[in-house]
Amino acid sequence: MSSADDQKRAAGEAAAALVENGMTVGLGTGSTSAWFVKALAARGLDIVGVPTSLATAELAQSLGIRLGELGQVKSIDLTVDGADEIGPALSLIKGGGAALLREKLVWEASRRCVVIADAEKRVASLGKFPLPIEVVAFGHETTALRICDALAECDLGIAPRLRLKDGAPVKTDGGNLIYDAACGRIEDPAQLADALKSVTGVVDHGLFLDLADMALVGTPDGVVTLEP
Ligand code: 5RP
Repeated sequence: MSSADDQKRAAGEAAAALVENGMTVGLGTGSTSAWFVKALAARGLDIVGVPTSLATAELAQSLGIRLGELGQVKSIDLTVDGADEIGPALSLIKGGGAALLREKLVWEASRRCVVIADAEKRVASLGKFPLPIEVVAFGHETTALRICDALAECDLGIAPRLRLKDGAPVKTDGGNLIYDAACGRIEDPAQLADALKSVTGVVDHGLFLDLADMALVGTPDGVVTLEP
């Protein structure tokens, strides 16, 4: 197994093997999650999927997976989702695909969460991947200044950048905006998570701490299982 895509596919297929008939399953967002959704659909199980984005809902529906909505399903047995970085104790950075809020809502409602990724996503400490921060659009420039203060409190003297695509701000499925903070190295992810959440206008951030129960990581030698 060599390319990152091969590794993502193998991780997605390994995760699909964890799903049992009758389960309600959180469906993550991104290219690795798409492999999972395809492998899950191929199993033909009687399950309900709870998508974390409109893109995943569309993919799952096109493959014949029955969908439920968070808030309508009784509980979620298992959520499988990708990550941008996997750090110590399965701390994660997510949100590269701008779906972090819906992802976190689904993760937090799940009994078990499994993160799937290629080997490049494993890091000794979080922060090389710019941390996505979702903010409400109203007054977002002012919120960005307050995010700078929160970052400075955590000894991160950096300014977050508004995420653009084709010159226009990227909008999340919920109509919010994303700022990316190139932290470099996050010494204390929990402190940073608290500081960011205390800023009015910040809806959420891409630090997923103490949420993943297991990681399935594709490597050149096969899929490796990690636990916190
Ligand atoms: C989307 C995410 C994705 O899971 C993350 O960006 C990983 O994406 P990919 O599987 O395409 O590498 O957090 O918001």
